[in-house]
Amino acid sequence: MKIAICTGGGDAPGLNAVIRAAVLSCLELGWDVFGIRDGMRGLLRPEEYPNQGIIRLDRSSVRGITHLGGTFLGTSNRDDPTHFPTIHPDGSVTYADITADVAATFAKLGFDALISVGGDGSMKIASRLSDHGLKVVGVPKTIDNDLDGTVATFGFDTAVQFACDCIDRLHSTAASHQRVMVVEVMGRYAGWIALESGLAGTADVILLPEIPYALDKVVAKLQDRHKIGARFSLVVVAEGAFPADGQVSVKERPVDGNEKLGGAAEKLCHSIRAITDFDTRHVVLGHLLRGGAPSAQDRNLSLRFGAAAVRALAEGRHGVMVALAPPEVRYVPLSQIAGRMKKVPLDCDTVLTCRALGVCLGD
Ligand code: F6P
Repeated sequence: MKIAICTGGGDAPGLNAVIRAAVLSCLELGWDVFGIRDGMRGLLRPEEYPNQGIIRLDRSSVRGITHLGGTFLGTSNRDDPTHFPTIHPDGSVTYADITADVAATFAKLGFDALISVGGDGSMKIASRLSDHGLKVVGVPKTIDNDLDGTVATFGFDTAVQFACDCIDRLHSTAASHQRVMVVEVMGRYAGWIALESGLAGTADVILLPEIPYALDKVVAKLQDRHKIGARFSLVVVAEGAFPADGQVSVKERPVDGNEKLGGAAEKLCHSIRAITDFDTRHVVLGHLLRGGAPSAQDRNLSLRFGAAAVRALAEGRHGVMVALAPPEVRYVPLSQIAGRMKKVPLDCDTVLTCRALGVCLGD
């Protein structure tokens, strides 16, 4: 068998560990394995990679990388083959679904299968390639944990731990200065990172995209704390959180990509300042959440996912995504999960725990 592997979309701690596990598993079976550079750009834009867009991977290529953040293959969230841009001489841009051509190119290059490591966008592409006859196994990655069909994605645990460490640091400075500290965490339209890091970091207010917030409820919580002598507060805001009478904060709307969220904490900070005299500051953790070494849990999840992807192919399975269903790793059809987002269920135990502890969720 000749296998290709690529990492697409935003990076997440654990990508290198997935590649290592997949490569070693392939080599154990006597298969050849190749990495595509920068998502699928190495294949889609060969002119940009003279002789190097697709590289053979061996034991030495994946030695000593399990603990490293990022992806040594590189990644990209441009050049989506389901909406592929062509720039014309007059500067105009047109988009087309080229997945049939891409599947044919894989076959022409002699590849038997593709292991596609990525988030929702990559799984949608994987599903389309699979429709066109390419054998594909998806591996779910994202710090946001918002992919449907799997209990967890790798990268999430590391992001939550880092956010929690930051909240702990803000805790002491907030207490020293009697301040309200508002911390913004990534997560797009799902509040998993905010919820888990906020609870662990003992935030007083946690705002999620799943619960549009009422400013007066947030302020009442801060005032209640002040009344009982707690003269500082910690507020964790998911980047996708928004006031019930307002909208999600968007920093940028690229014509050919996903909107970039940002500004939720700054907005809330200004609103709190406008109606209280609390000394309020905001911090945006942003891409710091995506960097650094994967936690032990993410390393192991990544290694398990990488090995399971190759096991799937060895068992003749494809058109599936590996998924965590503790204690097992299972396979779910790509067609079933593509385009579906896993949001925080409002009746989940973690939300109930927050409410039981008196954490304000903005409603
Ligand atoms: O999906 C991962 C993620 O980090 C989101 O949490 C965030 O909204 C987005 O990617 C940021 O994307 P970019 O790196 O393209 O700005």
